[in-house]
Amino acid sequence: MPTSEGKLRIGVLGCGPIAQAAHFDACRKAHNAELYAVCDRAADLLEQMAATHRPVVTFTDYKAMLADPQVDAVIIATADAFHVPLAQQALAAGKHVLVEKPLGVTIDECIPLTQQVRESGLIFQIGHNKRFDPGIAFAARFAREELGQLMALKAWYCDSVYRYSMTDNLQPIMQVSQQSVRPSENPKADKRRYYLLTHGSHLIDTAQLLGGTISKVQARLLERFGAHAWFIAVEFADDSLGHLDLVVAIRGDWEEGFQVYGEHGSIKGKVFLPWFHKSSEVECFSTKTGLYQRPLGADAYTYKLQIEGFADTILNGTPQHGATIQDGLSTMRAMTAIARSAESGAWVNLANVTGGP
Ligand SMILES: NC(=O)c1ccc[n+]([C@@H]2O[C@H](COP(=O)([O-])OP(=O)(O)OC[C@H]3O[C@@H](n4cnc5c(N)ncnc54)[C@H](O)[C@@H]3O)[C@@H](O)[C@H]2O)c1
Repeated sequence: MPTSEGKLRIGVLGCGPIAQAAHFDACRKAHNAELYAVCDRAADLLEQMAATHRPVVTFTDYKAMLADPQVDAVIIATADAFHVPLAQQALAAGKHVLVEKPLGVTIDECIPLTQQVRESGLIFQIGHNKRFDPGIAFAARFAREELGQLMALKAWYCDSVYRYSMTDNLQPIMQVSQQSVRPSENPKADKRRYYLLTHGSHLIDTAQLLGGTISKVQARLLERFGAHAWFIAVEFADDSLGHLDLVVAIRGDWEEGFQVYGEHGSIKGKVFLPWFHKSSEVECFSTKTGLYQRPLGADAYTYKLQIEGFADTILNGTPQHGATIQDGLSTMRAMTAIARSAESGAWVNLANVTGGP
């Protein structure tokens, strides 16, 4: 049951960088949520975060947080390898889940989770925060309602070598702890896998939001001067064509965007580094009106908006705008297919892939 003010009581698991830069603050600013609990095995980090963000309760034991009947929902803000097992525990305890992207690290672990979500009747959302960028949300609605039949889509995500110069200024000073729980394997040891999971998941989610489900891919990968470039030919389930570029990192400013060509119009979008909290610049042209539409999303704090959307679905039953478990599984399949295709050079059908990127 939500609080007397009708807010969703959230427990955040993990006091790492994403919680410090986004979730704690976003929970506190969300109009329909409350930062009720915070949990981290690292007691020193937990203490610092509690002093700053003042949750009602803190826990070093995740099971104890899940046993608290006051917690309505959890945000899982831990390393990717822990997402699926921690989400399974939360669902088993009857909690709604907002889990950071990517959904997991292998397709095989995600499949049983989809069944558990279905059977639970609980809300399960993946932290693809870009869906809550008002420009991207406008483009997605326009693609769905105004474009008619889709013909082709291009999308690109080029990380910048200057990313940390920008984020160091935009984010709070990060607190770290030697006691933090880390996966047994260093997630950054395999750069190809890490970049696909971390950055590729954003690119693919945006492409599928705008263009529908991807059915097959053919990817080329070049590694040069420490940078990685994937150029990916894509076919969507409705046979429309796609092309995705993922580059980590370009020697230049952050470059992210998309173009969509449909029967009755076209869309062009420029997306900014998310930590600027600035809405994407999107132009949507319709042959029916002969006009371009260019929305201004004044509030583009995507991390807050995704929590508000999550809470609104749970509290009021509004349709889920955030990425569902099916979206997350589909993104896992696409990332894995891209990895396999980059190895073999062949077209890879998403329906046939197993394992992980
Ligand atoms: N959406 C975005 O824009 C965005 C940006 C950055 C990171 N992320 C995602 O956020 C996730 C977390 O990233 P991070 O860098 O903050 O992680 P991190 O590993 O640095 O921090 C996670 C914290 O969770 C704690 N923890 C893990 N398992 C626990 C358990 N079972 N019980 C108690 N505490 C536990 C750890 O002690 C650690 O302090 C990743 O999946 C990453 O991909 C998303």
